[in-house]
Parts: sequence; C-alpha cells; structure tokens
Amino acid sequence: MKTKIAVITDLHYSQSPIHGLPDRKGEQANELLQKAILELNNHIKPDITVILGDMIDRSDELESEKCLEILNNSIDKLNSKVIVLRGNHDPEQEIFSKIMGSTPDFIDINDLRFIPFIDKDEPGCNASRSSLDIERMHNLSAGFSGQMVFLQHVPLFPPDLAQGYYNYTNLDELLTAIRALPNPTLTIAGHEHAGMEMVTSGKDRFIAAPALCESPFQFLMIEIDGDDIKCEYQQLKN
Ligand SMILES: [Fe+2]
Repeated sequence: MKTKIAVITDLHYSQSPIHGLPDRKGEQANELLQKAILELNNHIKPDITVILGDMIDRSDELESEKCLEILNNSIDKLNSKVIVLRGNHDPEQEIFSKIMGSTPDFIDINDLRFIPFIDKDEPGCNASRSSLDIERMHNLSAGFSGQMVFLQHVPLFPPDLAQGYYNYTNLDELLTAIRALPNPTLTIAGHEHAGMEMVTSGKDRFIAAPALCESPFQFLMIEIDGDDIKCEYQQLKN
C-alpha cells in the first residue's frame, strides 16, 4: 500500500530579516509554510506531514513564542496527520510542546511506523540520542513487522556513504542499533539546509530534506510502496 509523506523542515521564522544570513528568508517563513500547506491540501494530499524543526530562527528573541503560535495556527490547517519536532534553534522542549502540542510516541500508517525523536543538542549544532531512546527503538520494533520511519532534526548517515556538516556524537552506537533491528528503516532529518540525497545501507535508508526558508524554497515528498521508495523535491508555486 502506498504512503505519501511530506517533509517540511527548517523554517527559521523571524519577525525581521535575519542579520548576516541574507539567503535565509526567515521573515517569509509563515508565508512559505502556508503556500506549502495549500499545495499539500489541494493537490498532493499526503497521508502524513512531518515538520522536522528549526521552526524559528532565534529562541532568545522576545517574540519567539508568538512566532511559534503563528506557525502553529498555520499548521492547524493541514488536512493530513502531522508530527512537529523541535530543532536546535527552537525554545526548550517544555516551552515548544506547550505551544506546538506534545510529540506522539509513534504513529502507525499502513505498514509504516513513524517514530519521532527528541534528541539532545550537543556543541557544534550536533546531537546525541539517549540510551532510553535507543531502547525505545528496539521496543517499538518488537512485534511490528513493517518498516520503521525515524524522524529527527539532525541528519544521521553512515559516514562511508555520506558526509554532512553535522552529526550524532554517538553515531556508531546508533548505526549499530539501527542495523540490529529486524525491520527495514528509513531515517528522515532536516538541519542540513541543502538537503542530503537518500542513501541505502543494507535494509536501512537515510535522507535529509532541504530547508523551506532558502531558495528555491522546497519541501520533500517521499512515496513508499513496500520496498520501493521515491523521493522528490517540491518547489513552492508562486
Ligand atoms: Fe538546525
């Protein structure tokens, strides 16, 4: 059975143009998000939309909570199921989830199990996954025969197949855990604004979506039909 996944990430919403980073159009983020939502609701009709963090640009700004509320009002208009994750630019999880709603443990759609991770920020815009969350990966695999879709902000790739700027400080441990699962897995991230192409390592696949806030203003569509996975960047229409 086919499942359509829309991946939106890195909006970096800001009340004013972002100083020193002219390519990052944070001041347009809500408008860009609304365009993406119209396209998804009216044409693409995904089964689920995942929004993978860095909703706002600066969590220390006075207006940051107001910005999150504005984005949340836009996200409410999505017709599909939705999972929203915090990124390293967003406020702490407690404040984030108060505005954006709590993150589910997992969501099953067709033969896929979507599992969001709230990983710990590490220096250099890297991340680490707790041993409790690694255990959770194993527990959610038990008795489930379908494909597991892991959602997170920071890209996680086998280093021999792809090298991004950012990484997990406990990458080896994580890759070992993923490879030990009996299920095929797809790991989807954001954070790396140019996006990273899907790579395959045995039964496991890894991809990172491009930032919505930077030209050419794209999101990622993934269509999964059994072992077959199609990925396509969608540019926003004017
Ligand atoms: Fe980020």
